[in-house]
Amino acid sequence: MKDMKMAREGLEPIETASRDEITALQLDRLKWSLRHAYDNVPMYRERFEAAGVHPDDLQSLADLAKFPFTVKNDLRDHYPFGLFAVPRNRIVRLHASSGTTGKPTVVGYTKRDIDTWADLMARSLRAGGVRPGDVVHVAYGYGLFTGGLGAHYGAERLGATVVPVSGGMTERQVTLIQDFQASAIMVTPSYILNILEEYHRRGLDPKQSPLQTGLFGAEPWTNAMRREIEQAFDMHAVDLYGLSEILGPGVAMECVETKDGLHLWEDHFYPEVIDPQTGAVLPDGEVGEMVLTTLTKEGLPMIRYRTRDLTRLMPGTARSMRRMEKITGRSDDMIILRGVNLFPSQVEELVVATGGLTNHYQLELYRAGHMDAMRIHVECSADAADDASRAAAARMLHKRIKDVIGVSTEVDVKRPDSIARSQGKAQRIVDNRPRD
Ligand code: DLL
Repeated sequence: MKDMKMAREGLEPIETASRDEITALQLDRLKWSLRHAYDNVPMYRERFEAAGVHPDDLQSLADLAKFPFTVKNDLRDHYPFGLFAVPRNRIVRLHASSGTTGKPTVVGYTKRDIDTWADLMARSLRAGGVRPGDVVHVAYGYGLFTGGLGAHYGAERLGATVVPVSGGMTERQVTLIQDFQASAIMVTPSYILNILEEYHRRGLDPKQSPLQTGLFGAEPWTNAMRREIEQAFDMHAVDLYGLSEILGPGVAMECVETKDGLHLWEDHFYPEVIDPQTGAVLPDGEVGEMVLTTLTKEGLPMIRYRTRDLTRLMPGTARSMRRMEKITGRSDDMIILRGVNLFPSQVEELVVATGGLTNHYQLELYRAGHMDAMRIHVECSADAADDASRAAAARMLHKRIKDVIGVSTEVDVKRPDSIARSQGKAQRIVDNRPRD
């Protein structure tokens, strides 16, 4: 793999600050943020009052647990601007999630919020191995989705040469990576697989590509997938996390020198991990749902926002701020099959490890009698497309899923190119169960 200089000089002081310095800053900022939400957003004032808490009750960071949670539906219920904490004319940018059902969720940023976002993305890019002067190919979608513009402003802030390609037109992606000699790419992990296929289609060796590092995020992906991408392109693959309600990309970022989970930018966000059933705060190290509170956001402060993302908090390594483990799944993506809980990421690991298959997969849920059942659609690789190889791959994957996850599923090994390719976030679950 291409060697990268991982010098620590140039880091912001807060990235190497002591734990005490970080907590002191967080407490100060948290007091401000609670007060800002309470004073300016009627929903927060009502919720705090109903729960019998007041911003002045926060004496330590642990006191945050007394405050009520915020959920995605709160944004929908106050569509479009009802949770903004500043007058609309101080909002300089809006983003929105497409939302498969109902109203989209709308988020708004003041000038200072946009500035903070660019700073945090520049910090994230640097942690991912990007340096000023690098050519950064941004293939996250531009538009209402936060991926494209978030990456763009951060790369500019860092002093890189940004190529704002957006998603789609895969042939052109390869042409521009090669012609402009991009050393970094920012794209969803599922879309880089399409780009990889395009390299093969053209007879180009992806190992010879100019790419040295990739910042992948916006959807769950496994360490097994990381190894595949790193080997295919001979580049580093690091994880970038974020969500529009809190900021967009740039909430947490994995450092290229350690690749051991994502450092949460704790100077701007306060993380808690809770038991998704009881809502109780769990100690660091235990897996649960990530809850985030913004510490500096002006336009749309979020207090104890339930992300639904499952992970755990771990101590800092390459930076002093705490890490979150690579997300294992979303509480609402958990599939319960005959009493066994499973996540698409567990299936992904097994698909990647099974010979004769590509990394494109989809999980179809259907009803068999009174029971939920799952069919895994995967694709054979071009050199294993005969009936016997496909049947062998299907048997192998079926057995591994039974052995490792503990459920029997149907496996459908399709011919090459028959699973829909994503240009952004992949749709992993197709739910064909009757609604009753
Ligand atoms: O996906 C922001 C983003 C853009 C992050 C580009 C990284 C790169 P939303 O569309 O609001 O924002 O979706 C947020 O996507 O709650 C997670 O469930 C999922 N997600 C984002 N990053 C990761 C990641 C953007 N690195 C939702 N690993 C989040 C796993 C991720 N899931």
